[in-house]
Amino acid sequence: MAETSPALPRHIGIIMDGNGRWARQRGLRRSAGHRAGIQAIRRVMEAADTAGVHCLTLYAFSTENWSRPRQEVATLMRLFEQTMQAEVDELHRNGVRIRVIGRRQQLSKRLQKLVGDAERRTEANLTGVLNVAINYGGRAEIVDGVRQLAASGADLSQLEEADLAGALYTAGLPDPDLIIRTAGEMRTSNFLIWQAAYAELYVTQTLWPDFDAADLRAALADYSARVRRFGGVPKPR
Ligand code: FPP
Repeated sequence: MAETSPALPRHIGIIMDGNGRWARQRGLRRSAGHRAGIQAIRRVMEAADTAGVHCLTLYAFSTENWSRPRQEVATLMRLFEQTMQAEVDELHRNGVRIRVIGRRQQLSKRLQKLVGDAERRTEANLTGVLNVAINYGGRAEIVDGVRQLAASGADLSQLEEADLAGALYTAGLPDPDLIIRTAGEMRTSNFLIWQAAYAELYVTQTLWPDFDAADLRAALADYSARVRRFGGVPKPR
């Protein structure tokens, strides 16, 4: 693929980290950090829309996050339910298609229903896409994709990359051009590991609940200055 210097990512993935630290710094419970994280999501969605980025994938809960204290898991699940219920109308009005990616069979029946309803209601929307990764793991996603292909009778000995890409939760969406991680850790934590093969990484020290429109603009400015080579030969500037 040719070298490009794209002005704007088509799809941004965000690893929203630092809610717990944000809460601890204020002497609050971790749940207060997660609640503040939802406000940050609202700000960032608005800022992304203003900037012209129409596809976001948010890493809300990984397949590994079940090992957190039971109370925290319960709080997060409740927040997902409440947020799904509270935000769908406005997202729908704004033309946003909602998708939840991950193994949803392990989610509560109530959450599965809210997710299914939100997806059905917004499936024809074309202005933007919001993927929320819940009980998501990149390796699990690849395993699920291969299982789905096998179940469909595909000849796995002839498997091509495009076949597998088409069997992932994100089928039909552009690969993320940019992955943002807040709170400073320099790793991708099993997030979109197939799709982000050539994504640009942007790590900020800002804790997720503090992330705002200015932080998103800084990430976009950084991204626009990158030269993407997709494994090609570097050319002199
Ligand atoms: C990481 O911070 C954050 C999470 C595991 C949860 C993210 C969830 C939200 C922001 C709520 C999202 C809600 C919807 C509906 C998408 P951490 O707890 O790992 O922070 P720490 O590393 O500082 O402890």
